[in-house]
Amino acid sequence: MSPEQRAANAFRDRFGTDPAVVVQAPGRVNLIGEHTDYNDGFVLPIAIDRRTVIAARPRTDTTIVVASETFPDACFDLLTMTRESGWEEYVKGVAWAMKADTLPGWDGVIVSTVPIGASLSSSAALEIATALVFSTLAHRRWDPVEAAQTAQRGESEWVGVTSGIMDQLISACGRTGQALLIDCRDLTRTPIPLPDGTRVAVLDTGTRRRLTESNYNTRRRECKEAASAFSVASLRDLTPAAFADMPPGLPATIGRRAVHVVEENQRAIAAAQAMRSGGAAELGDLMYQSHVSLRDNYEVSSVALDAMVEAAMASPGCLGARMTGAGFGGCAVALIKRSYVGQFSRAVTDRYQGATGHEPRVYLCDAAGGASVVAVAPTGPAVRADD
Ligand code: GLA
Repeated sequence: MSPEQRAANAFRDRFGTDPAVVVQAPGRVNLIGEHTDYNDGFVLPIAIDRRTVIAARPRTDTTIVVASETFPDACFDLLTMTRESGWEEYVKGVAWAMKADTLPGWDGVIVSTVPIGASLSSSAALEIATALVFSTLAHRRWDPVEAAQTAQRGESEWVGVTSGIMDQLISACGRTGQALLIDCRDLTRTPIPLPDGTRVAVLDTGTRRRLTESNYNTRRRECKEAASAFSVASLRDLTPAAFADMPPGLPATIGRRAVHVVEENQRAIAAAQAMRSGGAAELGDLMYQSHVSLRDNYEVSSVALDAMVEAAMASPGCLGARMTGAGFGGCAVALIKRSYVGQFSRAVTDRYQGATGHEPRVYLCDAAGGASVVAVAPTGPAVRADD
């Protein structure tokens, strides 16, 4: 059964009527361009066919009641909500960023097929699905880029997790069958087809990231320090030529962070070019180079991620592999030859398990479209009674 059907059925069981609206927002995997988004750089993610679905019906008051398969039910009022801890803070954060006192309340059921904490952006998928529910029930125009910016603001200012714009943007704007080369400075998005004869495999190490947030914030700070040492607004503005003349006194670690970001931006652009010309092997090489740099220069990989990438690289049909997302655990991504899917999956599983003792999971992913309204009841959604 699709997650949309599961959500609609669960809604009927829980609330005794059909939902007025069912929306979905996908998770993502980034092919290349890692830790570049908050440096105004380039990323090349795909939205994946694993998604968060919300079935909802408007209420006549300002209460939000959300049930989920995974977490305990949540209930709060849009006019009096306060910051607490729990998964519903993502829902509140979006409401807050969309101006909670202008929004209608709703009853909802959430179903998600995005693994949690696996670097596949389960939180961005929840945020974008939430934004789409509010927007639909309030009869607002859906602008996916604006929704991504709003969700990012909610996450950073309400939830207190500072991220770049990549995850929300690809969840809102993804294209079926295509990756998006996103310029994170002006948010322009160029669709790039995946090379013929290839598949994207997400390789879950079965380990979950630890201390990601503090390490992530440290890397952001280090990038700022590097940009200011090189007197540029952000590392996006540096070229490799700048490294011929490192600023005096620049700590070696900070220099390595800058090298990663500058070269990773170049790799993301080169990867998009390779994809346009069907250069699957070249894309694979760039992905592995990206991993090496994330491991050695940016230092955000982990023993499990390194083992997974090496297991993938040694398996039949693999064109390239790398860690994906923030790092420190979670998933790697591999580009594989389509005709080797079965052999690759078996070999990578055996090798990784043999090397680490962890049980991996292999998800073969297609590039999916961005967030969408899947179904609306014939009467259409209502706005809040006092609107
Ligand atoms: C996390 C953040 C993104 C991005 C990646 C690293 O997924 O949410 O904005 O910075 O890490 O590329």
